[in-house]
Amino acid sequence: MTALERWSLHLGAFLTALSGVAYGWLRYFGRAAGEFGLEPHPLQALAQHLHVLAAPVLLFALGMAVRGHLAAKLRVGAERRNTGLGMGLLILPMVASGYLLQVAVAPGWRLAWAWVHGSASLLFLLTYLGHGLSAWAEGAAGLSRPAPRLTD
Ligand code: HEM
Ligand code: HEM
Repeated sequence: MTALERWSLHLGAFLTALSGVAYGWLRYFGRAAGEFGLEPHPLQALAQHLHVLAAPVLLFALGMAVRGHLAAKLRVGAERRNTGLGMGLLILPMVASGYLLQVAVAPGWRLAWAWVHGSASLLFLLTYLGHGLSAWAEGAAGLSRPAPRLTD
């Protein structure tokens, strides 16, 4: 994985996750009592717009990582397989449900996709942190070998 691929992935994941968590929080817990009853939080629309704009950054970086990193690691059978494969499998439900949410019209379907999106995204986030932290901890403990980078 090149530095550009790694950092665009970190940046995309950070922006998408931050805006997604903020959007979810404001949407479900941020309503405030207004003159005509409960109203959306004034920052909810901003968080939603940021999320919709940040998601393609992550998606683009994920595309590079699937081809350059995941496929290469699968071929050589590297360590960190569980979190890596977990993330690989979560990409489709996370991304598809995000867009299905936007095009769903019936309230039942909207709710269903919101649950799929929320669960898949949070699981992706946890696995992403686990995958990165274990790489980081290994490096900090001085355990990372001067591995050949040919298959990255
Ligand atoms: C990284 C973790 C992510 C988190 C924590 C997250 C969180 C959320 C939350 C809480 C919502 C609101 C659900 C609702 O309306 O009930 C949402 C909506 C959405 N998400 Fe994500 N999401 C993530 C990743 C993604 C990705 C990767 C994509 C697409 C590539 C995406 C695209 C969308 C779209 C299009 C919406 C609908 C926005 C709207 O209301 O119009 N999200 N997300
Ligand atoms: C079978 C699947 C996977 C395996 C076996 C795997 C394995 C590894 C290993 C061994 C490393 C340590 C550095 C290196 O050797 O390159 C690593 C780093 C990394 N992986 Fe994966 N990986 C997989 C899938 C993925 C996926 C799907 C993503 C992205 C969504 C991903 C994102 C990363 C990132 C960002 C790093 C760098 C962490 C850092 O140092 O900041 N990996 N992976």
